Amino acid sequence: MSEEILRAEGLRKEFPGVVALDGVDLSLRTGEVHVLLGENGAGKSTLIRVLSGAGRPDGGRILMDGRPVDIRTAGDARRLGIATIYQEVNLVPQLSVAENLALGRPPGRFGFVAVKRMERLARRLLDRVGVAVNPRTPVAGLGIAGMRMVEIAKALAWDARLLIMDEPTAVLTTGEVATLFAIVRQLRDEGVSIVFITHYLEEIAEIGDRVTVLRDGRSVAEVPANTRRDELVGLMVGRPVAQHYPRRPCERGEALLQVSGLTRGGAFDDVSFEVCAGELVGMAGLVGSGRTAVARAVFGADRYDTGEVVVRGRRLPPGDVHAAVEAGLGLVPEDRKGQGLVLGAGIGENLGLVTLRRATRAGFVDRARQRRAAAKVAEQLGLRMIGLDQEVRTLSGGNQAKVVIGKWLLANAVVLILDEPTSGVDVGAKVEIYRLINALTDSGHAVLMISSDLPEVLGMSDRILVMARGRLVGELPAAEATQDRVLALALTDTEGPRVR
Ligand SMILES: Nc1ncnc2c1ncn2[C@@H]1O[C@H](COP(=O)(O)OP(=O)(O)OP(=O)(O)O)[C@@H](O)[C@H]1O
Ligand SMILES: [Mg+2]
Repeated sequence: MSEEILRAEGLRKEFPGVVALDGVDLSLRTGEVHVLLGENGAGKSTLIRVLSGAGRPDGGRILMDGRPVDIRTAGDARRLGIATIYQEVNLVPQLSVAENLALGRPPGRFGFVAVKRMERLARRLLDRVGVAVNPRTPVAGLGIAGMRMVEIAKALAWDARLLIMDEPTAVLTTGEVATLFAIVRQLRDEGVSIVFITHYLEEIAEIGDRVTVLRDGRSVAEVPANTRRDELVGLMVGRPVAQHYPRRPCERGEALLQVSGLTRGGAFDDVSFEVCAGELVGMAGLVGSGRTAVARAVFGADRYDTGEVVVRGRRLPPGDVHAAVEAGLGLVPEDRKGQGLVLGAGIGENLGLVTLRRATRAGFVDRARQRRAAAKVAEQLGLRMIGLDQEVRTLSGGNQAKVVIGKWLLANAVVLILDEPTSGVDVGAKVEIYRLINALTDSGHAVLMISSDLPEVLGMSDRILVMARGRLVGELPAAEATQDRVLALALTDTEGPRVR
C-alpha cells in the first residue's frame, strides 16, 4: 500500500448565503489518480482552491506527509509541490504561448538570450503535450482547447508532487484526451498524485484509482474507480437519473436554416448544409476542424468571404449579430464566460438579456413576467443558487453554463446553434438540457449542436455532419452513425477528393 501524501479533515468554507464546504474529508495517496465527483455546485472547485492556496478554509485542517500545513497563498502551495489547473482558463491572452508558459517561473532576466531559452523551454513543454503551435503565437488566437493544452503544459513545468486538474477534459476531443491520459498515467507511475475532476463518468474507470464523491458540500463516499456507473450517480445525485439520452422521433419540417458555400480563407471552405424545423443536427469534428468558426460566421459574430446564410427564407446580412437575433437565430458559444455572460449582473438579468433587448425594441417590458419565466427555467435546469439576484460570477462553472443555455431557451430563438452545450454540466442537468432541446424541436425549432462528446452527438442527433480541416466531409443519418464511422470521417485528409 502506498502512503498518504495529503489528508484533509473537516474542511469548511462559507460564502455569504452558501456553505460551499460543509465538512469535507479527503485522503490522497502517493501515485494515485483521485477523482472528485459531484453535481454542479457540490463544492469541487472550492475544495481544490482551498488545497492550492487560492482560498482559505473557515475550518478543518490539511496535513501533508502527516504534518499540518497552512496553505495561504499560491506560493505556499508551490513550495509544497502542489500544481493546479483551474476550471477557468488562467492565461494572459495578449501574451505569447512562451511568455505564458514562463509566467510565474522563478524570476530570470529576460534579455535576448533568456527569450530564446524561454522559447526552447516552451517548445519542449508543448511537445510533451503534443501541441503543434508556435511558441510566439498570442494565446488569444488559440481557441479554448488549445488554451487548455497550454495550461496543462504549464502545470507540467512545475515538477509537482501533487497535480490538481479541475475539468481538464471539458473542451478536449478524443485525441487530446488520449494524450492527456497518457501523460497522467506516466506521472502517476512516477509517483505523482493527481486530483482529477470530470463530469464524464466514462473517464472515471479509465483514468481513476479512487473516487471521492461530494454532495452539497460534504464528502459522502470514497469508493474505487471501477464502481458501477449507476451507483456513482446515486451517490452523487442522491436519486436515480432517467435515461441518459432521451431521444424522440424526428418530424422534419421546412428548412429553417440554410447555409450555402460559406467560405473564409484559412478557416472554412465551401460549407453548405441545412437544418429543418423539428430537427436536431449534430456537428462533429476535431478541435480546429472549423466547427466553431462556421457557427460564429453563421451567427454574424465573425465575417465570411463568400456564401450565404438564410434563416426562414430570408438572407442575413453578413457580420450582423443583431440582424441574426432579429431573424430568430441564437448561439450558445463555447467560451461562455467570455462571450455568453455578464458576470457582474444577476442570474435573472442574464437569463433575460436577449428577451429584454427584443422587448425594449417592441416598446415595453413586462418585468414580472420575465422574472417568472426566468425562475421557471432556473428550476428546470436545477440551478444551484441563492436567488435570481445572485451575481453570476459567484456561481460554479457548470451553473454558469446552465445560465447561458437558459438565456437562449427563454429568448425562444427559432434556430438555435449550441456550441458544446453540456461541457462542464453534471449528469442530471445534462439530461434536463437534452429534454429542453427536445421540447424545442418538438415545437418546431431547428437545432444545430456542435459537440466533441461523441456519445452525446450519437445519442441525440437526427443527422450528423462531420467537419475536417475546414470542410464538411460527410453526413450520416443517426441510424447509420457509429463512433468509428464519425471518427473515420473526422480524420479525413481533405487534401484528397471530397467524400460527399
Ligand atoms: N466567490 C463566491 N461567492 C459566493 N458563492 C460562491 C463563490 N464561489 C463559489 N460559490 C458557491 O459555492 C458553491 C460550490 O461551488 P463550486 O464552484 O465549488 O462547485 P463545483 O462542485 O466546482 O461545481 P461545477 O461542477 O459546476 O464546477 C456553489 O453554490 C457556488 O455558487
Ligand atoms: Mg467547478
